[in-house]
Amino acid sequence: MAASSHLSLRPLPGQNRPILRSICRPVLCAADRQALFNRIAPVYDNLNDMLSLGQHRIWKRMAVSWSGAKEGDNVLDLCCGSGDLAFLLSEKVGPKGKVIGLDFSKEQLSVASSRQQLRSKACYNNIKWVEGSALDLPFSDCYFDAITMGFGLRNVIDFRTAMEEMYRVLKPGSKNFRPRLQ
Ligand SMILES: C[S@@+](CC[C@H](N)C(=O)[O-])C[C@H]1O[C@@H](n2cnc3c(N)ncnc32)[C@H](O)[C@@H]1O
Repeated sequence: MAASSHLSLRPLPGQNRPILRSICRPVLCAADRQALFNRIAPVYDNLNDMLSLGQHRIWKRMAVSWSGAKEGDNVLDLCCGSGDLAFLLSEKVGPKGKVIGLDFSKEQLSVASSRQQLRSKACYNNIKWVEGSALDLPFSDCYFDAITMGFGLRNVIDFRTAMEEMYRVLKPGSKNFRPRLQ
C-alpha cells in the first residue's frame, strides 16, 4: 500500500519488517491477525496515540460512559489489547464489581497485566485477563451487565459470530458499546 512506504517505522529489535507496513498490509486469517497483534504489542499504545492524535483516550472514556456500566457490575472488555477500556471500566464498577479483559493475543495481555501491576489504584485488583477468542467466548449465557469492544469488531474474522457471542453472554436489557477508529 502506498501509505505504508512513507509511514513505516523502524523494525522492532530482532524483526525485519517495519511496524506500520505490517499493519497496512491486508491480513487474511485469524492466525495472521493474532501474530500481528502479538508482534506490535510493545509499541501498540504509542501507535494508538500517534494514529488518533491522542483522541482514542477521549473516545474510550465516552465508550465506558455509554456502556451503562455502574458500581458493582460484572463487565467484559472484548479484544481488550493493552487494557485501556478495562482500566476505565474497573474504576467505574469499583471494588465490588468485576472486569474481564479478553483478547487472543498473549503479548497484548502481558502488556495489560504489566500495566495493572504498575498502577497503584486498589480497584484495578478487580480486573482479570483472559486469553480467548471473541468468536467462542468462555462464559455462560446472560453473564455480563455490560460489554465494551474497542476497535475490535473490524479485526475479528467473523462479524456475525462475534455479535452473536456478545449478545449471548449479555444479560437481557444490557448494553454493549464498540468505538471504531476509521
Ligand atoms: C485494534 S486492537 C484494540 C485494542 C483495545 N481494545 C484498544 O482499544 O486499545 C484489536 C485487538 O483485538 C484483538 N483481537 C482480534 N481478533 C480477536 C478475536 N477473534 N478474539 C480475541 N481478540 C481478538 C487483537 O489481539 C487486538 O488486541
